[in-house]
Amino acid sequence: MTRPSPTQPATARQSRTQTAVPTHIAIIMDGNGRWAQSRHQPRTTGHRAGISSVRAVIDHLAKSGVHYVTLFAFSTENWSRPLEEVSVLLELLGEAVRDETAELHQNDVRILHLGRLDRLSPKLRQEIQRAIELTKDNTGLTLSVAFDYGGRDEIVEATRRIVAAGIPAEEIDESLFGHYLQTPTIPDPDLVIRTGGEFRISNFLLWQSAYSEFYSTPVHWPDFDEQEMERALEAFRLRKRRFGSLSPEE
Ligand code: IPE
Ligand code: IPE
Ligand code: MG
Repeated sequence: MTRPSPTQPATARQSRTQTAVPTHIAIIMDGNGRWAQSRHQPRTTGHRAGISSVRAVIDHLAKSGVHYVTLFAFSTENWSRPLEEVSVLLELLGEAVRDETAELHQNDVRILHLGRLDRLSPKLRQEIQRAIELTKDNTGLTLSVAFDYGGRDEIVEATRRIVAAGIPAEEIDESLFGHYLQTPTIPDPDLVIRTGGEFRISNFLLWQSAYSEFYSTPVHWPDFDEQEMERALEAFRLRKRRFGSLSPEE
């Protein structure tokens, strides 16, 4: 195993200057099931409807000057849902990879996957790996899809790799640990958006979101559009980030 270099890109958390546009937006795409149920439809209809929001949001953010978008699509805990719902979610991931990769590649988007691949079918795994390989040199938006992702799982896995690499305890610091996570090439999220109205992190980017601004909206994911994204961006503009320090005027 190659040992990651500690000279990777600086994280957003290291910069104290508030920029108008977040460099990295991470989204917990929640509320699909309730959106469908309120329409007397099966929950899976909500998951299908959510795909249009994904397209709209990616297009909009690419034009807004955001460089990194991370989407939470399936958590390590979501396997506990009914088999039929899990099957539809896996199917939708496969469809999205097959149908969207070519256009994303044309638009210079770099695709990444966060989370575990070992519990997906070999076919789906290969399709994801091909999309990552095809787009790896693209320099536009970086789109990370968190599927079978859990923040705790990621931290445990990083710890295992550090131990397996035989790194002495005194060499382990935050920077080294961060490079063993799945996000060594992406800065920490500046803004985490959660749709569907809950105020919790649900095991998403536990390490990376230490100083992210959190924005929760009651809007369910299938109804989250460009206008809702503008609301979130406006809320972000009004935030004062201190990172434990004091703002210049304080
Ligand atoms: C988010 O929507 C998608 C996944 C978690 C896979 P939900 O399916 O959680 O929708 P609600 O929260 O039950 O409405
Ligand atoms: C979080 O939503 C996971 C995703 C959006 C993929 P959940 O619906 O699984 O979260 P909880 O169960 O309400 O915390
Ligand atoms: Mg939910």
